[in-house]
Amino acid sequence: MKTYLCSIILLISSLTLPLHAQNYIPTPENLKSRQEFRDGRFGIFLHWGLYAMLATGEWTMTEKNLNYKEYAKLAGGFYPSKFDAAQWVAAIKASGAKYICFTSRHHEGFSMFHTRYSDYNIVDATPFKRDILKELADECHKQGIRLHLYYSHIDWYREDAPWGGTGRGTGRPNPAGNWSSYYQFMNNQLTELLTNYGEIGAIWFDGWWDQKQNPDFDWQLPEQYALIHKLQPGCLIGNNHHQTPFEGEDIQIFERDLPGENKAGYSGQDVSQLPLETCETMNGMWGYRITDQNYKSTRTLIQLLVKAAGKDANLLMNIGPQPDGCLPEIAVQRLKEVGEWMQTYGETIYGTRGGCVAPHPWGVTTQKGNRLFVHILDYQDKVLFLPLENRKVKRAFTFVDKQPVKYKQVEGGITLQLGEVPTETDKVIELQLD
Ligand code: GLC
Repeated sequence: MKTYLCSIILLISSLTLPLHAQNYIPTPENLKSRQEFRDGRFGIFLHWGLYAMLATGEWTMTEKNLNYKEYAKLAGGFYPSKFDAAQWVAAIKASGAKYICFTSRHHEGFSMFHTRYSDYNIVDATPFKRDILKELADECHKQGIRLHLYYSHIDWYREDAPWGGTGRGTGRPNPAGNWSSYYQFMNNQLTELLTNYGEIGAIWFDGWWDQKQNPDFDWQLPEQYALIHKLQPGCLIGNNHHQTPFEGEDIQIFERDLPGENKAGYSGQDVSQLPLETCETMNGMWGYRITDQNYKSTRTLIQLLVKAAGKDANLLMNIGPQPDGCLPEIAVQRLKEVGEWMQTYGETIYGTRGGCVAPHPWGVTTQKGNRLFVHILDYQDKVLFLPLENRKVKRAFTFVDKQPVKYKQVEGGITLQLGEVPTETDKVIELQLD
């Protein structure tokens, strides 16, 4: 009787409580995906849309106040003749990345997949007529790499999308939009994305910040999140809102900064217990930008990946594919070189967690059980002190060639005798802890 009463009370309270006040309990499938996500440590972000044709990045529509009806005409000329999903996926896999995050629909409002809910999509509005997302998804599943989908909450094209801080000069008639129509549209599209493209590793939202000046704006995220988790319980939800995670989210995203840093200005928020991911660009822009050949060196990219892992975070590294459907050649070269490094050092990255020695200016540590990997990235000395307070070291050796490294137990930790000043991209010393 008592349990019966309890369940009635629970039921009533769950009906009367607003959804967001409920405690989200991730399912076992979801927890498993979180672990796989963390173990993978490295993903490639792809920003691709009509904006690739303008070749000035994905914000051109709002930055240049391009009229939405004029902008939409770009679709009639979008024919990425060299697009080959198999080639993309192979090049990305070669880097050692474990997942791809693809922009299914960015702020410009164009759907890079075949949707029933708007003609403004890759199949119905372009001469190309191929469902790019479908080809990419099939190839990801075939080649065994997970697929995540970026989905914009902002839409600078649709008349029913309420105006926020951006996209105000694109000529749409009604600033208020029609929220319920737009919300339904987004949920319809999310349903398509989670029904027609096989297993989706994550939905990566972006644009919440566009209504920041309007604190009463309700994005109705709890219901949207619940829909996603209902359709695919293992699908992780992340939102690039630059806040500490909201109820119902499964990962925490950082933009252009590692967790705990804030050079780019988007990341004052606390670091949560959820799996972490930092997104960065290989050059300076997300979408293809013809004038931006300022690619980060392979050394910088590897060090970024290592630093992320040392902060217990994944790195999501962005590439902006060209309008002809190719990945930029330099990007492909970088992918290959990072991959070569991962062939040797992947063991010190995949499946690890941030190590028990906190990040320092000289580098970071990653850890798998009793194996501590000391990643020395930038150090001008031959002796390195490691504050290993309560842990005893049993053995120390170079990770690559297993040569013993001399060490001394000292007050508050150990000192490692490096022999010479390290010049490698990442000198890794493995310690076996007691
Ligand atoms: C920003 C930008 C967007 C990009 C995203 C990636 O939120 O609005 O263009 O997609 O960052 O992190």
